[in-house]
Amino acid sequence: MVQPVRKAVFPVAGLGTRFLPATKVLPKEMLPIVDKPLIQYALEEAMEAGIEEFVLVTGRGKNLMEDHFDHAYELEAILLERGKLTELEAMERMTPDPGRLSYTRQRRPRGLGHAVWCARQFIAGEPFAVVLPDDLILAAPGCLKQMVNAYRETGGNLVAVEDVPREHTDRYGILDVETDNGRLAKARGLVEKPAPEEAPSTLSIIGRYILQPEVFDHLDKHEEGAGGEIQLTDAMARTIGDTEFHGVRFDGRRFDCGTKIGFVAANVAFALSRDELNDDVREVIQSVL
Ligand code: UTP
Repeated sequence: MVQPVRKAVFPVAGLGTRFLPATKVLPKEMLPIVDKPLIQYALEEAMEAGIEEFVLVTGRGKNLMEDHFDHAYELEAILLERGKLTELEAMERMTPDPGRLSYTRQRRPRGLGHAVWCARQFIAGEPFAVVLPDDLILAAPGCLKQMVNAYRETGGNLVAVEDVPREHTDRYGILDVETDNGRLAKARGLVEKPAPEEAPSTLSIIGRYILQPEVFDHLDKHEEGAGGEIQLTDAMARTIGDTEFHGVRFDGRRFDCGTKIGFVAANVAFALSRDELNDDVREVIQSVL
């Protein structure tokens, strides 16, 4: 039986330069999709998947996230006074139990691999999930829950994957596929951001991972990869051989909310998915068009 996944790391120390000027002061992960910030969707997805302990790898200017997951006494008192119990409940539901949410700082944005490495003490020898909040996935059950189910079959390292157009392979980590049954693909290698003509497949890794703690043996070396950054993909690739590596195609739709178009599309799709908003949103879109 595989060891259960109880912990999750949320790397949120990136600079979000593609979303300036919005992200000059506001962390990218606090951008709202309809009425919830990205980071909250990410934590809720992890809670649904059975995650019990959460660590945010933050950086300078990211303090708003700590406040977001703290009590807001004045606001709560006013909501209570005004009888706004639905809103009050929604705020209480979203926060992990005391002591279950931790923060560590990356200090300098040296890449995703480095951000994950910064959480090594917290992971302490267990399998763990990594969730990138700017990859937002509309799915029921959530993407991480689907992965935890698949992980019971595969064990080892498991990432969520989707097929991308060949001309986009240079934006993603790409699997070198050994076998593929249409849902699960077993990889014999990984390449970070390969040029389209060099990509071993078009199966790309998206921002959800379940990893064994041995990945830290490789992250410890601080080797720089594509773009001079310490890449998580490179460290994962080096575990192949000792640990099996699978990609799972998930049911659902992913939005890259680190890009303007992905952010707009996510707002439309998430608004349409809500019964109380669907009719009005359709009307608004039609009138704008
Ligand atoms: P991105 O590649 O989207 O980078 O990082 P970014 O810096 O956030 O955004 P741009 O490219 O400047 O617009 C993917 C994820 O990895 C985290 C980011 O916060 C994001 O969740 N990350 C990236 C870190 O935590 N630290 C890093 O050094 C790099």
